Amino acid sequence: MTELARDELIHAALDAQKRAYAPYSNFPVGAALRTAGGKVYQGANVENASFSLTICAERVAAAAAVAAGDREFVTIAVVSRGGATPCGACRQFLAEFNPTLRIVMVDSEHLDHGYQSTLDDLLPNRFVKAKAPS
Ligand code: THU
Repeated sequence: MTELARDELIHAALDAQKRAYAPYSNFPVGAALRTAGGKVYQGANVENASFSLTICAERVAAAAAVAAGDREFVTIAVVSRGGATPCGACRQFLAEFNPTLRIVMVDSEHLDHGYQSTLDDLLPNRFVKAKAPS
């Protein structure tokens, strides 16, 4: 990935972060997912008064891509205060489509503080459905 492509993705994630609905945690998260065709899908966390209904930014971006017919995930950028890593549920959700997805995490308040990894590093031995007995 070129530096320009990485910066574009981070800026798309920062743009999405501004639209996060996070009145309960006050922890807005933005995500931007690039697919093999070069399209970028954005996501932001959406919280709910019934806390457990909250959906993370990464899953919103992934669902937007899939709903648009785009399942070939290549890179996701995730931005938040401190540059958090995707939660376990999001790792499993993303691994469904690309278990080796590249993940760029950036501190939204210090854009030079970042960390890059892959889903197979962050989620070894993901759950895969066992084969049905024959
Ligand atoms: N959150 C995300 O959007 N992505 C993650 O990977 C971890 C957490 C959100 C959920 C909730 O709205 C807020 O961050 C605080 O947990």
